[in-house]
Amino acid sequence: MFSTKTYTTRRAQLKKKIDNGVILLLGNNDAPMNYTDNTYHYRQDSTFLYYFGLEQPELAAVIDIDENKEIIFGNDFTLDEIVWMGPQQTMKQKAEKVGVKVTKPADELETFLKDAIGKKRKIHFIPQYRHDNMLKFQKLLGIDANKINDYSSISLIKAITEQRSVKSKEEIAEIENAISISYEMQTGAMSYAKPGMMEREIAGFIAGLASSMGNGIAFPIIFSRNGQTLHNHFHGNILKEGDIVVNDSGAESDEHYASDITRTFPVSGKFTAQQREIYQIVLDANLAGIKGVKPGISFREVHFKSALVIAEGLKALGFMKGSMKEAVKAGAHALFFPHGLGHLLGLDVHDLENFGENNFGYDENVKRSTQFGSKSLRFARILKPGIVLTIEPGIYFIPELIDKWKAEKKFTEYINYPKVESYKKFGGIRIEDDVVVTNTGSRVLGIPIPKTIDEVEAAASEKI
Ligand code: GLY
Ligand code: MN
Ligand code: MN
Repeated sequence: MFSTKTYTTRRAQLKKKIDNGVILLLGNNDAPMNYTDNTYHYRQDSTFLYYFGLEQPELAAVIDIDENKEIIFGNDFTLDEIVWMGPQQTMKQKAEKVGVKVTKPADELETFLKDAIGKKRKIHFIPQYRHDNMLKFQKLLGIDANKINDYSSISLIKAITEQRSVKSKEEIAEIENAISISYEMQTGAMSYAKPGMMEREIAGFIAGLASSMGNGIAFPIIFSRNGQTLHNHFHGNILKEGDIVVNDSGAESDEHYASDITRTFPVSGKFTAQQREIYQIVLDANLAGIKGVKPGISFREVHFKSALVIAEGLKALGFMKGSMKEAVKAGAHALFFPHGLGHLLGLDVHDLENFGENNFGYDENVKRSTQFGSKSLRFARILKPGIVLTIEPGIYFIPELIDKWKAEKKFTEYINYPKVESYKKFGGIRIEDDVVVTNTGSRVLGIPIPKTIDEVEAAASEKI
């Protein structure tokens, strides 16, 4: 937990942005895996964590703007619960740590809200993603659980996303702590992976590092020789001599901030000539993205700068042809780079995504593209200091996509299909770093993780 002042200051800032009414935040509950008492790993809701810091199931909090009051609703442990789960501080003691003086039993939330609704006061809440909390909202506010998000508060969404998207020094330090774990996960995988091993041996090893050094993985590990599948969570293949493998993984720090790092490395320690060529283009696109990040420029512009580096690199190797500026404008590069350059990073690996990407990633100045590939850019707005983003270009040879585009004769003026088809077994390469926008540009967060061809080959050659 951060200092009490961190939480009181965060709430004070939020209060200034909401004119009237009551802000209602629900914490997350335990989620049963196969029966009630056998639960998934518990994770508190990030907005609840941000403003109220407490991590236990069955909590709710209100910030009463009209009456300038803050209340945490939750129950003290019963003796029965203490017998099974050990002694606990009282709710009052816990609430004091985050600067909240008033606590009430959980079931008083309903009475509190009925009274507020009776007085026609506005209840501000954020979009919900857990079905148990949607049902709770239905009971508390009398709104159909399936429609609850239609009633979420735009002014609250704007206030929270503006505040949470700019990271403080202590938040950046937490992200860097998570990246220190990523360093071990990335270099550990490079030295541990060998031909003949199953992907899951390495995926399990690095998941263990995340658990032993922090709060576990920040998202399901992508560790695959089939890196052309962007979010490949299958770990059942055997690694072979000559394979490259994508390791897209991240850890959660003690305060639950995420890292999100991708490296692609040769299993046996040496890239082939073909792999080196494609790797270097992705590296150039990663560096161009990092260099392109600066205050006042839109992330959409950075995305397209990086896409142009990919297209020019592929043209130099004969995969593309014609004007690459026009090809990128038309969206032809998306055959190889079908996703966005990056996303916000913070308490959530795709930070703020529960608020709806169009609510924080786009605005009246930056509209969402409808083009295949670029429409997947999750955040496109003008950058400002303190925003933390990933920069994660990639080049993928996706056989199904190549076949479809070729059959449709799509972008034949820009794509050299015979050459592309000869790479259908290549796989994919992605390189991802986490950066903070500074006053003049950007800073790559954390300790450097092997990234150049020489660095990666050296790390992947030193086997343990
Ligand atoms: N870890 C998934 C991503 O990079 O967005
Ligand atoms: Mn990633
Ligand atoms: Mn990412």
